[in-house]
Amino acid sequence: MRKNIVAGNWKMNKTFSEAEALMCDILDGLDKINEPLADVIICPPALYLEMGVDLVRETPVCIGAQNMSQFVSGAYTGEISAGMLQSMEVQYCILGHSERRKYFAENDEQLAKKVDSALANDIWPIFCCGEELAEREAGNHFNVVKGQIENALFHLTPEQFSNVVIAYEPIWAIGTGVTASPEQAEEMHEFIRGLVAGKYGKAVADETSILYGGSCNAKNANELFAKPDIDGGLIGGASLVADDFLTIIKSF
Ligand code: 13P
Repeated sequence: MRKNIVAGNWKMNKTFSEAEALMCDILDGLDKINEPLADVIICPPALYLEMGVDLVRETPVCIGAQNMSQFVSGAYTGEISAGMLQSMEVQYCILGHSERRKYFAENDEQLAKKVDSALANDIWPIFCCGEELAEREAGNHFNVVKGQIENALFHLTPEQFSNVVIAYEPIWAIGTGVTASPEQAEEMHEFIRGLVAGKYGKAVADETSILYGGSCNAKNANELFAKPDIDGGLIGGASLVADDFLTIIKSF
């Protein structure tokens, strides 16, 4: 279902006590917002998922993982399965983040399997796509994003697809302080929605939440979220500062 979403991707940051304090500060701040206009998802490092799930119980906040295995179970040292996430009451999982693609060689084929495994275990994927700067400069950004989405998601049935959140994260904007302009972001979001409409029909496309990520912060979230096809953000650096994250949540 299409909703406004603000998701915090904490990446590999914070000790346990820092993470607990940040989680509590965010929850305290959210308590003071009358009726938040966005659903909030917090994606801490895997070790802290249990702490997060315990703290958000009885609040509207959801907890998401940052990655999971495509395998069901067995001899895969160091991995965490979708079934394990489900058994810990984790509701979302970021899949296909560009950092996973770049540093851990995740590819579309693997990601399609991860998406399947997540959905089979009632974990909602936050599927990331986005182009490198050189790809944009070569005018190839629409094709790149189209390929990522088609290869990892378009084998899904419409019912399955309706449980997927898409996050457009241009790689050149991640952690750089260089945000895509609201116009650049909207242009891509509109393109993605059109792509989904072409495959699954307008009704499904209209119900898909498409988030923007890449140097989205307390100052620029307002302008980005005002665009018709931008349904919220996947926030990295600014999600590590409670006040900034709360300001972003209030930016609708
Ligand atoms: P920054 O907000 O730090 O640019 O990170 C975005 C991101 O990668 C979220 O997944």
